[in-house]
Amino acid sequence: MTKIIIAGSRGRMGQALLAAAGQLTEVQVVGQVDLGDSLLPFIEQADVVIDFSHHDATPAMAALCHQRRKAIVIGTTGHSEIEQQSIRALRDRVPMVWSSNYSSGVNALFWLTRRAAEILGPDFDLEVIEMHHRLKKDAPSGTATTLAQILAEVRQLACPEALRHGRQGLVGERPAAEIGVHAVRGGDVVGDHTVLFAGAGERLELVHRASSRETFARGALRAALWVVGQPPGLYTMQDVLGLR
Ligand SMILES: NC(=O)c1ccc[n+]([C@@H]2O[C@H](COP(=O)([O-])OP(=O)(O)OC[C@H]3O[C@@H](n4cnc5c(N)ncnc54)[C@H](OP(=O)(O)O)[C@@H]3O)[C@@H](O)[C@H]2O)c1
Repeated sequence: MTKIIIAGSRGRMGQALLAAAGQLTEVQVVGQVDLGDSLLPFIEQADVVIDFSHHDATPAMAALCHQRRKAIVIGTTGHSEIEQQSIRALRDRVPMVWSSNYSSGVNALFWLTRRAAEILGPDFDLEVIEMHHRLKKDAPSGTATTLAQILAEVRQLACPEALRHGRQGLVGERPAAEIGVHAVRGGDVVGDHTVLFAGAGERLELVHRASSRETFARGALRAALWVVGQPPGLYTMQDVLGLR
């Protein structure tokens, strides 16, 4: 039985995680924390913390997991560079899974995006378009950022310098060494991502649409079951799914 704490438990993902965990016999929720709550009363009973809260909460949660040698699964997005560095620095003592997206479909999209960029080469213009519900707090989505990072890596472009977030006014012709990133917000959209490869005379679009948060919740629980007992280190959902 894997004992988990859900951080951000009153949020949309927190509620989806509680519902999904209730359907798994191999998982027991031993703590639920949200804004204003402390992890301390629950941490000793837990094997792993699943964080879907707010970017500024993750570093302290990860530090407590590091101190008490507990695994952590991070789903929260929108971390600043400083927050990212402080989280990464903790990988020496505990196993951590940190992914901008826990759905199997999006992890397949990450893999396909890399392959398509390698196959199509530098003659294709690259754009990433994402759409989310009107209540989402960060932009672009963590998933769109991961997609842009994959494209930048294949093209050997500096990230974030090569990213162009939206366009407005007399921007001039599109340089080849640019990756457009566009965040659309509205309604109750759970999460849509399109990677666009635009060439001369043809266009390839890779599209993923999430219609329920259940897919992220099931993926994060799968990651929690996987990460307990792994050697200390920083892993992604690609490791959990064996896609590396
Ligand atoms: N990786 C993935 O697959 C994936 C998928 C979906 C979402 N996400 C990310 O997961 C995060 C949560 O998304 P969501 O849609 O569930 O957002 P949400 O509905 O706003 O839920 C976040 C919850 O965390 C609470 N919270 C805020 N600060 C906290 C703190 N310091 N400690 C503990 N809890 C705190 C919030 O309370 P208040 O409302 O009172 O502030 C809210 O109840 C976002 O960063 C989102 O981008 C990731």
